[in-house]
Amino acid sequence: MKQPKKIAMFGGSFNPIHNTHINLAQAFIKKLKLDKLLLIPAACPPHKSDSEIVSAEHRLNMCRLACEEIKKIEVSDIEIKRDGRSYTVDTLRILKEQYPDSELYLIMGADMFMTLLEWKEPETIFSLATICTAPRNDADLKVLAEQEAVYRREGANTVILDWKKSGISSTKIRRMIYDDENFSKYVSEKVEQYIYANYLFMNRSTVNYERFDKVLHARMSEKRYVHSFNVAVEAQRLAKKYGADEKKARLAGILHDITKETSGSEQLKIIENSSIELNGVEAPSPKLWHAIAGAAFVRDVMGIDDEDVFNAIRYHTSGRANMSILEKCIFIADFTGAERDYEGVEEMRMLSNKSLEEAMAFGLSFSISDLAKRRLAIDPNSLACYNEVVLCTGKSFQKSK
Ligand SMILES: [Fe+2]
Ligand SMILES: [Fe+2]
Repeated sequence: MKQPKKIAMFGGSFNPIHNTHINLAQAFIKKLKLDKLLLIPAACPPHKSDSEIVSAEHRLNMCRLACEEIKKIEVSDIEIKRDGRSYTVDTLRILKEQYPDSELYLIMGADMFMTLLEWKEPETIFSLATICTAPRNDADLKVLAEQEAVYRREGANTVILDWKKSGISSTKIRRMIYDDENFSKYVSEKVEQYIYANYLFMNRSTVNYERFDKVLHARMSEKRYVHSFNVAVEAQRLAKKYGADEKKARLAGILHDITKETSGSEQLKIIENSSIELNGVEAPSPKLWHAIAGAAFVRDVMGIDDEDVFNAIRYHTSGRANMSILEKCIFIADFTGAERDYEGVEEMRMLSNKSLEEAMAFGLSFSISDLAKRRLAIDPNSLACYNEVVLCTGKSFQKSK
Protein backbone atom coordinates (compact mmCIF):
# COMPACT_ATOMS: atom_id res chain seq x y z
CA MET A 1 0.00 0.00 0.00
CA LYS A 2 1.30 3.44 -0.90
CA GLN A 3 2.21 5.43 2.18
CA PRO A 4 1.58 9.13 2.64
CA LYS A 5 4.88 10.94 2.18
CA LYS A 6 4.32 13.58 4.77
CA ILE A 7 2.18 12.90 7.77
CA ALA A 8 1.57 15.09 10.80
CA MET A 9 0.34 14.29 14.26
CA PHE A 10 -1.64 17.06 15.94
CA GLY A 11 -2.13 16.12 19.57
CA GLY A 12 -3.82 17.89 22.42
CA SER A 13 -6.66 17.65 24.85
CA PHE A 14 -9.12 19.43 22.51
CA ASN A 15 -11.26 20.37 25.48
CA PRO A 16 -13.12 21.49 23.36
CA ILE A 17 -11.81 21.55 19.80
CA HIS A 18 -12.32 25.01 18.26
CA ASN A 19 -11.99 26.81 14.92
CA THR A 20 -8.41 27.92 15.61
CA HIS A 21 -7.34 24.27 15.98
CA ILE A 22 -8.88 23.56 12.58
CA ASN A 23 -7.39 26.68 10.98
CA LEU A 24 -3.98 25.78 12.38
CA ALA A 25 -4.25 22.22 11.04
CA GLN A 26 -5.25 23.52 7.60
CA ALA A 27 -2.47 26.12 7.61
CA PHE A 28 0.10 23.40 8.33
CA ILE A 29 -1.35 21.10 5.67
CA LYS A 30 -0.76 23.93 3.19
CA LYS A 31 2.60 25.12 4.49
CA LEU A 32 4.19 21.65 4.83
CA LYS A 33 2.32 20.15 1.86
CA LEU A 34 1.11 17.36 4.11
CA ASP A 35 -0.56 14.27 2.65
CA LYS A 36 -2.37 13.54 5.90
CA LEU A 37 -2.89 15.12 9.30
CA LEU A 38 -3.86 12.90 12.20
CA LEU A 39 -5.72 14.78 14.89
CA ILE A 40 -5.18 12.80 18.08
CA PRO A 41 -7.04 13.71 21.28
CA ALA A 42 -5.10 12.59 24.35
CA ALA A 43 -6.65 10.06 26.74
CA CYS A 44 -5.54 11.78 29.89
CA PRO A 45 -3.16 14.56 28.93
CA PRO A 46 0.00 14.08 31.03
CA HIS A 47 0.59 17.85 31.08
CA LYS A 48 -2.75 18.65 32.66
CA SER A 49 -4.29 17.98 36.01
CA ASP A 50 -7.36 19.92 34.99
CA SER A 51 -10.60 19.03 36.70
CA GLU A 52 -12.48 20.80 33.90
CA ILE A 53 -11.49 18.18 31.37
CA VAL A 54 -14.47 16.31 29.95
CA SER A 55 -14.42 12.60 29.10
CA ALA A 56 -12.24 11.26 26.28
CA GLU A 57 -15.40 10.05 24.56
CA HIS A 58 -16.89 13.58 24.47
CA ARG A 59 -13.62 15.13 23.23
CA LEU A 60 -13.25 12.47 20.54
CA ASN A 61 -16.87 12.95 19.41
CA MET A 62 -16.39 16.72 19.17
CA CYS A 63 -13.19 16.28 17.13
CA ARG A 64 -15.00 13.95 14.74
CA LEU A 65 -17.86 16.43 14.33
CA ALA A 66 -15.47 19.33 13.72
CA CYS A 67 -13.41 17.45 11.12
CA GLU A 68 -15.97 15.31 9.33
CA GLU A 69 -15.98 17.39 6.17
CA ILE A 70 -12.34 18.49 6.12
CA LYS A 71 -10.05 16.89 3.58
CA LYS A 72 -6.74 15.37 4.69
CA ILE A 73 -7.63 15.54 8.40
CA GLU A 74 -8.32 12.22 10.08
CA VAL A 75 -9.31 11.94 13.74
CA SER A 76 -7.54 9.07 15.48
CA ASP A 77 -8.47 7.36 18.77
CA ILE A 78 -5.03 5.75 19.06
CA GLU A 79 -4.24 7.49 22.38
CA ILE A 80 -7.73 7.22 23.81
CA LYS A 81 -7.80 3.47 23.17
CA ARG A 82 -4.43 2.96 24.81
CA ASP A 83 -4.76 2.37 28.53
CA GLY A 84 -3.20 4.72 31.03
CA ARG A 85 -1.46 8.00 30.39
CA SER A 86 -0.71 8.89 26.81
CA TYR A 87 2.80 10.04 26.01
CA THR A 88 3.56 11.65 22.67
CA VAL A 89 6.79 9.73 22.29
CA ASP A 90 4.91 6.39 22.45
CA THR A 91 2.40 7.57 19.83
CA LEU A 92 5.21 8.77 17.54
CA ARG A 93 6.91 5.37 17.84
CA ILE A 94 3.66 3.63 16.81
CA LEU A 95 3.24 6.02 13.87
CA LYS A 96 6.83 5.39 12.79
CA GLU A 97 6.07 1.66 12.78
CA GLN A 98 2.88 2.17 10.81
CA TYR A 99 4.43 4.61 8.35
CA PRO A 100 8.15 3.66 8.21
CA ASP A 101 8.79 5.55 4.96
CA SER A 102 6.91 8.74 5.83
CA GLU A 103 8.28 11.97 7.14
CA LEU A 104 6.67 12.72 10.51
CA TYR A 105 5.67 16.13 11.86
CA LEU A 106 4.39 16.89 15.32
CA ILE A 107 2.06 19.89 15.63
CA MET A 108 1.21 21.41 18.99
CA GLY A 109 -0.13 24.60 20.52
CA ALA A 110 2.26 27.34 21.68
CA ASP A 111 1.80 26.51 25.38
CA MET A 112 2.70 22.86 24.80
CA PHE A 113 5.72 23.86 22.70
CA MET A 114 7.16 25.80 25.63
CA THR A 115 7.14 22.73 27.91
CA LEU A 116 8.58 20.14 25.53
CA LEU A 117 11.75 19.49 27.51
CA GLU A 118 9.61 18.33 30.45
CA TRP A 119 7.92 15.65 28.33
CA LYS A 120 8.88 11.98 28.34
CA GLU A 121 12.03 11.43 26.20
CA PRO A 122 12.22 14.78 24.40
CA GLU A 123 15.38 13.75 22.53
CA THR A 124 13.55 10.74 21.04
CA ILE A 125 10.66 13.02 20.03
CA PHE A 126 13.20 15.30 18.28
CA SER A 127 14.66 12.32 16.42
CA LEU A 128 11.28 11.04 15.25
CA ALA A 129 9.50 14.19 14.08
CA THR A 130 9.82 17.82 13.08
CA ILE A 131 8.31 19.97 15.84
CA CYS A 132 5.74 22.49 14.62
CA THR A 133 3.87 25.26 16.38
CA ALA A 134 2.31 28.67 15.81
CA PRO A 135 2.03 31.75 18.03
CA ARG A 136 -1.25 32.56 19.70
CA ASN A 137 -0.53 36.29 19.79
CA ASP A 138 2.23 38.75 18.81
CA ALA A 139 4.01 38.43 22.15
CA ASP A 140 4.22 34.65 21.67
CA LEU A 141 6.31 34.93 18.52
CA LYS A 142 9.44 36.21 20.27
CA VAL A 143 9.19 33.72 23.14
CA LEU A 144 8.65 30.83 20.73
CA ALA A 145 11.67 31.85 18.64
CA GLU A 146 13.88 31.83 21.76
CA GLN A 147 12.61 28.41 22.73
CA GLU A 148 13.09 27.15 19.18
CA ALA A 149 16.78 28.06 19.41
CA VAL A 150 17.06 25.90 22.54
CA TYR A 151 15.48 22.89 20.80
CA ARG A 152 17.66 23.33 17.73
CA ARG A 153 20.74 23.15 19.91
CA GLU A 154 19.34 19.79 21.12
CA GLY A 155 19.20 18.63 17.51
CA ALA A 156 15.53 19.24 16.79
CA ASN A 157 14.01 20.26 13.49
CA THR A 158 11.38 22.92 14.05
CA VAL A 159 8.83 24.98 12.15
CA ILE A 160 7.15 28.05 13.61
CA LEU A 161 4.29 29.18 11.46
CA ASP A 162 3.59 32.89 11.38
CA TRP A 163 -0.09 33.15 10.67
CA LYS A 164 -3.28 35.02 11.43
CA LYS A 165 -3.50 34.75 15.18
CA SER A 166 -6.90 34.45 16.84
CA GLY A 167 -6.04 34.77 20.53
CA ILE A 168 -8.72 32.19 21.33
CA SER A 169 -8.09 29.10 23.42
CA SER A 170 -10.09 26.20 24.82
CA THR A 171 -9.69 27.72 28.28
CA LYS A 172 -11.32 30.99 27.12
CA ILE A 173 -14.13 29.09 25.41
CA ARG A 174 -14.78 27.01 28.53
CA ARG A 175 -15.00 30.20 30.57
CA MET A 176 -17.45 31.73 28.09
CA ILE A 177 -19.64 28.61 28.20
CA TYR A 178 -19.56 28.62 32.00
CA ASP A 179 -20.58 32.29 32.03
CA ASP A 180 -23.45 31.65 29.54
CA GLU A 181 -21.81 33.84 26.89
CA ASN A 182 -22.27 33.27 23.18
CA PHE A 183 -19.35 31.15 21.93
CA SER A 184 -20.81 30.12 18.57
CA LYS A 185 -18.26 31.94 16.44
CA TYR A 186 -15.36 30.00 17.97
CA VAL A 187 -16.53 26.43 17.30
CA SER A 188 -18.34 24.65 14.48
CA GLU A 189 -22.12 24.56 14.68
CA LYS A 190 -22.11 20.80 15.26
CA VAL A 191 -19.64 21.14 18.12
CA GLU A 192 -21.73 23.92 19.65
CA GLN A 193 -24.84 21.73 19.48
CA TYR A 194 -22.93 18.81 20.97
CA ILE A 195 -21.76 20.97 23.88
CA TYR A 196 -25.32 22.10 24.63
CA ALA A 197 -26.84 18.63 24.13
CA ASN A 198 -24.38 17.08 26.57
CA TYR A 199 -24.28 20.04 28.98
CA LEU A 200 -20.49 20.28 28.79
CA PHE A 201 -18.55 23.00 30.64
CA MET A 202 -21.81 24.58 31.91
CA ASN A 203 -22.37 26.16 35.30
CA ARG A 204 -24.26 23.40 37.08
CA SER A 205 -25.10 25.46 40.14
CA THR A 206 -27.33 28.05 38.46
CA VAL A 207 -30.77 27.85 36.85
CA ASN A 208 -30.84 29.68 33.52
CA TYR A 209 -33.86 29.16 31.26
CA GLU A 210 -32.15 30.67 28.22
CA ARG A 211 -29.43 28.04 28.61
CA PHE A 212 -32.02 25.30 29.11
CA ASP A 213 -33.75 26.40 25.87
CA LYS A 214 -30.48 25.89 23.98
CA VAL A 215 -29.96 22.49 25.60
CA LEU A 216 -33.52 21.44 24.70
CA HIS A 217 -33.20 22.69 21.11
CA ALA A 218 -29.97 20.71 20.76
CA ARG A 219 -31.72 17.55 21.97
CA MET A 220 -35.20 17.70 20.43
CA SER A 221 -37.46 18.82 17.61
CA GLU A 222 -39.38 22.11 17.69
CA LYS A 223 -42.62 20.17 18.23
CA ARG A 224 -41.25 18.46 21.34
CA TYR A 225 -39.84 21.78 22.57
CA VAL A 226 -43.28 23.44 22.27
CA HIS A 227 -44.79 20.52 24.20
CA SER A 228 -42.16 20.89 26.97
CA PHE A 229 -42.78 24.62 27.17
CA ASN A 230 -46.55 24.09 27.45
CA VAL A 231 -46.10 21.45 30.15
CA ALA A 232 -43.96 23.91 32.13
CA VAL A 233 -46.65 26.63 31.88
CA GLU A 234 -49.46 24.27 32.83
CA ALA A 235 -47.47 22.60 35.63
CA GLN A 236 -46.70 26.01 37.12
CA ARG A 237 -50.40 26.96 36.98
CA LEU A 238 -51.41 23.71 38.72
CA ALA A 239 -48.63 24.13 41.31
CA LYS A 240 -49.97 27.56 42.19
CA LYS A 241 -53.53 26.23 42.40
CA TYR A 242 -52.70 23.23 44.59
CA GLY A 243 -49.87 24.63 46.68
CA ALA A 244 -46.73 23.04 45.19
CA ASP A 245 -43.46 24.89 44.54
CA GLU A 246 -44.04 26.88 41.33
CA LYS A 247 -40.36 27.22 40.48
CA LYS A 248 -39.82 23.48 40.73
CA ALA A 249 -42.94 22.85 38.64
CA ARG A 250 -41.65 25.09 35.85
CA LEU A 251 -38.23 23.44 36.03
CA ALA A 252 -39.51 19.85 36.03
CA GLY A 253 -42.04 20.74 33.32
CA ILE A 254 -39.56 22.21 30.86
CA LEU A 255 -37.08 19.36 31.41
CA HIS A 256 -39.46 16.38 31.75
CA ASP A 257 -38.97 15.07 28.17
CA ILE A 258 -35.29 16.01 27.83
CA THR A 259 -34.29 12.52 26.67
CA LYS A 260 -37.52 11.71 24.79
CA GLU A 261 -35.80 12.02 21.39
CA THR A 262 -32.61 10.32 22.55
CA SER A 263 -31.88 6.86 21.13
CA GLY A 264 -32.84 3.84 23.25
CA SER A 265 -29.23 2.75 23.60
CA GLU A 266 -28.20 6.19 24.88
CA GLN A 267 -31.16 6.28 27.27
CA LEU A 268 -30.06 2.94 28.70
CA LYS A 269 -26.48 4.19 29.00
CA ILE A 270 -27.63 7.24 30.99
CA ILE A 271 -29.73 4.98 33.26
CA GLU A 272 -26.83 2.58 33.74
CA ASN A 273 -24.39 5.40 34.57
CA SER A 274 -26.81 6.59 37.23
CA SER A 275 -27.05 3.13 38.83
CA ILE A 276 -30.86 3.15 38.56
CA GLU A 277 -32.35 -0.35 38.53
CA LEU A 278 -35.24 -0.88 36.11
CA ASN A 279 -38.17 -3.00 37.31
CA GLY A 280 -39.45 -6.05 35.41
CA VAL A 281 -41.84 -3.99 33.27
CA GLU A 282 -39.60 -0.95 32.75
CA ALA A 283 -36.66 -3.00 31.45
CA PRO A 284 -38.46 -4.39 28.35
CA SER A 285 -40.59 -1.23 27.74
CA PRO A 286 -38.59 1.38 25.77
CA LYS A 287 -41.46 3.89 26.07
CA LEU A 288 -40.83 4.13 29.81
CA TRP A 289 -37.08 4.72 29.53
CA HIS A 290 -37.16 8.40 28.61
CA ALA A 291 -38.71 9.40 31.94
CA ILE A 292 -36.09 7.49 33.92
CA ALA A 293 -33.16 8.57 31.71
CA GLY A 294 -34.52 12.15 31.77
CA ALA A 295 -34.54 12.27 35.58
CA ALA A 296 -31.01 10.81 35.66
CA PHE A 297 -29.76 13.30 33.04
CA VAL A 298 -31.24 16.28 34.90
CA ARG A 299 -29.73 15.17 38.21
CA ASP A 300 -26.40 13.66 37.19
CA VAL A 301 -25.43 15.55 34.02
CA MET A 302 -27.11 18.92 34.62
CA GLY A 303 -26.47 18.87 38.36
CA ILE A 304 -30.05 19.72 39.41
CA ASP A 305 -30.13 17.74 42.60
CA ASP A 306 -33.67 18.03 43.95
CA GLU A 307 -35.49 14.86 44.95
CA ASP A 308 -38.97 16.18 44.16
CA VAL A 309 -37.93 17.41 40.69
CA PHE A 310 -36.17 14.07 40.11
CA ASN A 311 -39.26 12.06 41.04
CA ALA A 312 -41.61 14.34 39.07
CA ILE A 313 -39.61 13.57 35.91
CA ARG A 314 -38.90 9.95 36.85
CA TYR A 315 -42.61 9.09 37.26
CA HIS A 316 -44.21 11.47 34.75
CA THR A 317 -45.22 8.61 32.43
CA SER A 318 -45.96 5.80 34.86
CA GLY A 319 -47.13 7.56 38.00
CA ARG A 320 -46.59 5.75 41.32
CA ALA A 321 -48.14 5.37 44.75
CA ASN A 322 -47.73 8.28 47.19
CA MET A 323 -46.92 10.92 44.59
CA SER A 324 -46.13 14.41 45.84
CA ILE A 325 -48.29 17.34 44.68
CA LEU A 326 -45.45 18.40 42.36
CA GLU A 327 -45.27 14.92 40.81
CA LYS A 328 -49.03 14.98 40.19
CA CYS A 329 -48.83 18.45 38.62
CA ILE A 330 -46.23 17.26 36.08
CA PHE A 331 -48.10 14.02 35.38
CA ILE A 332 -51.32 15.92 34.65
CA ALA A 333 -49.73 18.85 32.78
CA ASP A 334 -48.22 16.30 30.38
CA PHE A 335 -51.84 15.40 29.44
CA THR A 336 -53.26 18.93 29.44
CA GLY A 337 -50.57 21.24 27.98
CA ALA A 338 -51.92 23.87 25.54
CA GLU A 339 -51.09 21.94 22.35
CA ARG A 340 -52.87 18.72 23.40
CA ASP A 341 -55.99 18.03 21.31
CA TYR A 342 -56.87 14.34 21.81
CA GLU A 343 -60.43 13.26 22.43
CA GLY A 344 -61.16 13.74 26.11
CA VAL A 345 -58.59 16.48 26.72
CA GLU A 346 -61.30 18.99 27.69
CA GLU A 347 -62.67 16.60 30.32
CA MET A 348 -59.14 16.04 31.64
CA ARG A 349 -58.62 19.82 31.82
CA MET A 350 -61.94 20.28 33.63
CA LEU A 351 -61.05 17.52 36.12
CA SER A 352 -57.59 18.98 36.71
CA ASN A 353 -59.28 22.15 37.94
CA LYS A 354 -61.49 20.15 40.29
CA SER A 355 -59.05 17.72 41.88
CA LEU A 356 -55.62 16.36 41.08
CA GLU A 357 -56.66 12.78 41.93
CA GLU A 358 -59.73 12.81 39.68
CA ALA A 359 -57.60 14.03 36.80
CA MET A 360 -54.98 11.36 37.63
CA ALA A 361 -57.65 8.63 37.68
CA PHE A 362 -58.95 9.81 34.30
CA GLY A 363 -55.48 9.99 32.74
CA LEU A 364 -54.38 6.62 34.16
CA SER A 365 -57.52 4.78 33.07
CA PHE A 366 -56.93 6.21 29.60
CA SER A 367 -53.32 5.02 29.38
CA ILE A 368 -53.81 1.69 31.23
CA SER A 369 -56.77 0.66 29.04
CA ASP A 370 -54.80 1.66 25.94
CA LEU A 371 -51.92 -0.60 27.03
CA ALA A 372 -54.30 -3.45 27.91
CA LYS A 373 -56.03 -3.17 24.51
CA ARG A 374 -52.66 -3.57 22.83
CA ARG A 375 -51.74 -6.45 25.20
CA LEU A 376 -48.74 -4.54 26.54
CA ALA A 377 -47.42 -4.93 30.08
CA ILE A 378 -48.54 -2.41 32.68
CA ASP A 379 -45.96 -0.91 35.03
CA PRO A 380 -46.75 -1.93 38.64
CA ASN A 381 -46.12 1.73 39.56
CA SER A 382 -49.04 2.73 37.30
CA LEU A 383 -51.32 0.11 38.84
CA ALA A 384 -50.40 1.19 42.37
CA CYS A 385 -51.03 4.81 41.42
CA TYR A 386 -54.33 3.97 39.73
CA ASN A 387 -55.58 1.94 42.70
CA GLU A 388 -54.62 4.69 45.10
CA VAL A 389 -56.35 7.52 43.25
CA VAL A 390 -59.42 5.45 42.36
CA LEU A 391 -59.85 4.22 45.94
CA CYS A 392 -59.58 7.72 47.30
CA THR A 393 -61.86 9.26 44.66
CA GLY A 394 -64.91 10.57 46.46
CA LYS A 395 -63.01 10.79 49.75
CA SER A 396 -60.62 13.57 50.71
CA PHE A 397 -58.99 14.92 47.57
CA GLN A 398 -56.28 17.50 47.22
CA LYS A 399 -58.83 20.25 46.59
CA SER A 400 -57.93 23.46 44.84
CA LYS A 401 -57.42 26.53 47.02
FE1 LIG B 1 -42.70 12.03 28.44
FE1 LIG C 1 -44.26 14.93 27.73
